[in-house]
Amino acid sequence: MTFCFAQAQQTAPAVTAQPAAHPAASLINGYQPVWWKEAVVYQIYPRSFQDSNGDGIGDLNGITQHLDYLQKLGVNVIWLSPHYDSPNADNGYDIRDYRKVMSEFGTMADFDRMLAAIKTRHMRLIVDLVVNHSSDEHHWFAESRSSKENPYRDYYFWRDGRPNPADPAHPLPPNNYPSYFSGSAWQYDATTQQFYLHLFAAKQPDLNWDNAKVREDVYSLMRFWLDKGVDGFRMDVIPLISKQPGLPDLTAEQMKDPSRIWANGPHRDEYLQQMNREVLSKYDAMTVGEALGITLPEQTQIVNSERHELNMIFNFDAVRLNRGANYSARPWNLPELKAIYDSHARVLGKADWDTVFLSNHDNSRLVSNWGDDSTPEFRTRSAKLLETMLLTLRGTPFLYQGDELGMTNYPFTRFDQFDDIEVKNLYKATVLTGQMPEAQFVAETQRFGRDNARTPMQWSGAPNAGFAPAAAKPWLAVNPNYTAINAAAELADPESIYHYTQRAIALHHAHLAFVYGGYQDLDPTHLQVYAYTRTLTEPGKPDQRFLVVLNYGQKPVEYTLPAGIKAGKLLLANIPGTTEAGATLHLTAWEARVYSY
Ligand code: NOJ
Ligand code: CA
Repeated sequence: MTFCFAQAQQTAPAVTAQPAAHPAASLINGYQPVWWKEAVVYQIYPRSFQDSNGDGIGDLNGITQHLDYLQKLGVNVIWLSPHYDSPNADNGYDIRDYRKVMSEFGTMADFDRMLAAIKTRHMRLIVDLVVNHSSDEHHWFAESRSSKENPYRDYYFWRDGRPNPADPAHPLPPNNYPSYFSGSAWQYDATTQQFYLHLFAAKQPDLNWDNAKVREDVYSLMRFWLDKGVDGFRMDVIPLISKQPGLPDLTAEQMKDPSRIWANGPHRDEYLQQMNREVLSKYDAMTVGEALGITLPEQTQIVNSERHELNMIFNFDAVRLNRGANYSARPWNLPELKAIYDSHARVLGKADWDTVFLSNHDNSRLVSNWGDDSTPEFRTRSAKLLETMLLTLRGTPFLYQGDELGMTNYPFTRFDQFDDIEVKNLYKATVLTGQMPEAQFVAETQRFGRDNARTPMQWSGAPNAGFAPAAAKPWLAVNPNYTAINAAAELADPESIYHYTQRAIALHHAHLAFVYGGYQDLDPTHLQVYAYTRTLTEPGKPDQRFLVVLNYGQKPVEYTLPAGIKAGKLLLANIPGTTEAGATLHLTAWEARVYSY
């Protein structure tokens, strides 16, 4: 790794558009200030946001309709999940044409209008870059599979199968890689009688980044979108781009977590540095890599600004704390979660940057997963508590659509209610093989399945929750609780989760301590209270000192702050009418407060 890094640095031409090295005086607490560090990001899953033309599928014009709603919420960067032409084997994470808008979502003119409307509101847009794999319907793959001699053959990984003594006519896959979406990661293709690699679905063949032409084609499509004016990329499973030489079998030990091997291929950093040199360095772009398989110590190899790779990554330590294999639950406790945030604060340095998130389109709903949706009162309070946490911890916060309303998991009761390919394939691999009873599968998937986050946005109490016209059939069922949980109701209620989130975002934007400030966990072992400070001392300016106190659970608690710390002015509280200050605090169920101290 060190060798690759040194080599890439030597051959790199002078980086021109990288923000100039700032003199120490302009650093804030040792950090170089940049817009994407100060951003609050909101993820839109376009299929489920707003249907503007009655086909039951969200679309770009639907997003444009709601930009005022987002601007008022206070978020200033939108991450758009894939909007490209796709046969939708994995809802757009299987791209057929990187330069075309998915027809269900609209046209390029709709995209341009949406982008212009985002910019008018002083917000920015990052788009999803899905280039570990393409769709099998991409013309590169159509060419590639057509013959062994085709110039695109080497755009993907093709290998002979292994002999199958039991059935010689049906060779075995070239190695033992499992797919993230169940079964083998290899698909036999009759035309050339070889297998191709797909770490995800069979319709998502992995691109061969060791081929310089693949890299050039990817850089070119990145320039296409940056030249249009997008402000950067969220990069899908980006550490997987460098495959292990020779694709050897995983050992039994490696099989326990194949991502660790797949995410740490020998050329990962070299390719990311090349991408940075050739493309990213020429633009004022934000980059965030999805980084399954990357541990915290490895994180700095990708995000350290001196290495010129990516700005930040999504590290999965926190978001997967409560998950075992597949959709099984893992018991966890608050000190474990605090230990993760604490280790990030200790291990990542001033040249690194971090993200903070607990939900997205691949996880269940924020409040159902991490809070408490057992009663309306607990749902409201715990959703507010979680937003408080996300907006006051270290790192650029990423909020997922609908979490600002406290949208919940869907009450799935049957397998046929799920749409997700991951769920369908897992069902085949577990229930249909007799490894798991159907009832258990449905219960676990109801708890952790990705469709929970993908049900349509609940805009109002109108039919279809205002997501689509009454006569339309939404592509995925609307959560029946939309009559109670919806944006229209929350906009009318000053104490709603929406308005609270708006206040928490405003607080985040108002004080750079929440961006660049130090972080101190006041009580790492407390089982129910999460209390921490964010502080910033800048020469010639008054000190910023903030105290966040969260009662993470239903049990009321009397909590005495450590010696020397007293809660001062109350800046944000999720229970209206709170006035308490001082050294001892009385917190009721799921109570969250932010003070100066
Ligand atoms: C991660 C994406 O977030 C997920 O939705 C997708 O299924 C896989 N990558 C494959 O692209
Ligand atoms: Ca539509």
